[in-house]
Amino acid sequence: MADIIPTPTGHVRLGSNAGQPLTRRDGVLKVTGAATYAADNRPDGLAYAVFAHSSVARGRVTSLDVDAAKVHPGVIEVITPANRPPLGRDPDGKAHMFSWRTEALQNDTVRYAGQPIALVVAETLEAATEGARLLAPRYAAEPARIGFDAGEAYDPPAVGIGSPPNFAKGDVEAGFAAADQVTETRIETPLQYHNALEPHAIVAAWDGDRLTVDVPSQAIAMARNDFAAYFEVPPENVTLRSPFIGGGFGSKAILNGPQLLCVLAARMVGRPVKLAVTRQQMFGHLGHRGATRQHLRLGVDGEGHLTALEHNAISTTSSFDDFLEPAANASHNLYATPALKTHHTGVRVDTGTPGPMRAPGEASGSAGLECAMDEAAAALGLDPLEFRLRNYSETDPASGKPFSSKALRECYAEGASRFGWAGRPLAPRQMRDEAGCLVGWGVGTAMFPAPMFQAKARATLARDGTGLMEIAAVEMGQGALTALAQIAADGLGLDGDKVELRAGSSELPDGGIAGGSGHTATAGSAIFAAGSDAVRKLAELATRDEASPLFGAGNAGVVGRAGRLHRADDERRSEAYGDILQRAGLSHIEGEGAGARDPADAAEYAMFSHGAVFAEVKVDPDLYQIRVSRLVGAFAAGRIINPRLAKSQLTGGMIWGISFALHEDAIHDPRTGRPMNADFAGYHVPVNADAPSVEAFLVEEVDRHVNALGIKGVGEIGVTGSAGAIANAVWHATGVRPNRFPIRIEALLH
Ligand code: MOS
Repeated sequence: MADIIPTPTGHVRLGSNAGQPLTRRDGVLKVTGAATYAADNRPDGLAYAVFAHSSVARGRVTSLDVDAAKVHPGVIEVITPANRPPLGRDPDGKAHMFSWRTEALQNDTVRYAGQPIALVVAETLEAATEGARLLAPRYAAEPARIGFDAGEAYDPPAVGIGSPPNFAKGDVEAGFAAADQVTETRIETPLQYHNALEPHAIVAAWDGDRLTVDVPSQAIAMARNDFAAYFEVPPENVTLRSPFIGGGFGSKAILNGPQLLCVLAARMVGRPVKLAVTRQQMFGHLGHRGATRQHLRLGVDGEGHLTALEHNAISTTSSFDDFLEPAANASHNLYATPALKTHHTGVRVDTGTPGPMRAPGEASGSAGLECAMDEAAAALGLDPLEFRLRNYSETDPASGKPFSSKALRECYAEGASRFGWAGRPLAPRQMRDEAGCLVGWGVGTAMFPAPMFQAKARATLARDGTGLMEIAAVEMGQGALTALAQIAADGLGLDGDKVELRAGSSELPDGGIAGGSGHTATAGSAIFAAGSDAVRKLAELATRDEASPLFGAGNAGVVGRAGRLHRADDERRSEAYGDILQRAGLSHIEGEGAGARDPADAAEYAMFSHGAVFAEVKVDPDLYQIRVSRLVGAFAAGRIINPRLAKSQLTGGMIWGISFALHEDAIHDPRTGRPMNADFAGYHVPVNADAPSVEAFLVEEVDRHVNALGIKGVGEIGVTGSAGAIANAVWHATGVRPNRFPIRIEALLH
């Protein structure tokens, strides 16, 4: 994508559409059921696919009763390694950084429980399900390796998406030697599986060598190109439609084996085929957050300043791929310290491959770091918020670069005041509520990078005064269709109701990846640039036309607003877009734009969103049941396009913090490797009663470097800080330092 022009740096004045707390444009479609998700598609002649999955975690499939499945009424085809047609790309290869080694029936090896081992295609879902059951697989099984101590140690070449596994600045041992106090914190975090409301589904239809796939995708153009490579057709022969996604959290960013098998099946049977995974099958091949074991050491001098910070993390990964949670990297960019050292290692276990999951690295790592900071503050006898302020970094601790903006001090102040932090007793077990429950207050700092990817957009202004913005942007529940339409309206100089935003299809200009919390920044930059380009062309028409009241104004002296071009120096002189086009004999005018970070800014500045999360927990003094009674977060994320939706994102992230702290825990049976709680009865996520009061506040922040629009991101940061704040509140209530997430009753019994 070398043809992308970087967005010029500066601080663009947006119109009045951005900043409005609008409700979701797609809200009515969703609550009335009119929004179509992938599995809602039923093309003519549709057949249904169900995959059989392995019930052992390691070994080989020795037999499948294909004949029994084939004679079942309605079964059309059974695909196994014996008859699976070739693919244009090796599923065991790693084509690029955002690809997984995956299972597409390339052989009879089993690498984890839940792995697809055959695909049955039938006239109905019921027949396919029964056909898959009739396969009655037999295995040559080997013992499963589950858990840190059973797996094979592994030194990763990289963590996350291509980050170095180790980092050092300064001399940590000298820092610890010079410290007045050294504290050590050990924290374990569990495996978590992405469980979006919409389980993964795909509908594939071939027309000759043209492929149409309806599939939820956080990376539409990339997925289109990947499908094209696997099926050896040109990318333009593949149409990928993903208008609505019922939550992605990272698991819908990377292609997986069953999707490939469904497309293969459609080609084999010559009919459209649908494959929708069950909730149980969400706990296998679709990615997860690896477990971590973290060890932190903090050296502090007599004034409460860090002299050294060391953060080591061991994470689990699969036996055959190498995604590793970059947990220790959470310590790179937050607290000021003269010496900093981070180190990652891995353990190979017999599960599917982990992958990016909402706040990858930061979610687990921030939980560890914030607990460690709390422990150090308590050992010093310092208020934990005051301790964080003493170690506030004015420049990025890891790189030494200035921050493009950082309103974290304001977040601490705003959050503390909204929460009512003042007067918090230093010692634990000092507060009780009317019912006699132990009450504790804790704080955690939230932080997440503000990356940008690359995107393009196409804008059209029509003679009837309407505008169209086209971009393969991704609506995954976060509100992109609404926020991006607000930017589109400002870019085009139109009222919001005059703008149509077309998104969610690979036939549109590449909208980039909806991940890394960078979608609004990236797609929004492309959209604004495309809109501005169309308005600039319109302004050229008008200012060169003697019949226009704008004649001679020059491009720089004209602004578009509410469907009219105005002279900047004399707002009364204006003309409607439609009149300009009509006189020029044009039905419409088009603009194009691209979004990407200015490389000079990227080199010069460290770019992060920040926040402060305050938690109140209540703990039953006899039963030790833990409730998060209040969670208050204050966040600074540059320019906020839609405060209502930004708060919704932040609130959702904070609720995931509750989930991380108290609920989510995927347990694999160490004997079989099978997930033991692969449903919502056993895999707990918070419900309303678990989150009675969660409030996110936005702190104003102007960023002149992150991109021309000054937008950072809000998608993932809410998870960070929150889990640590809750654990710290549990300590403050009980005097017990939890050393494993989720925090369980038994951890508090003593
Ligand atoms: Mo995300 S884990 O970048 O969808």
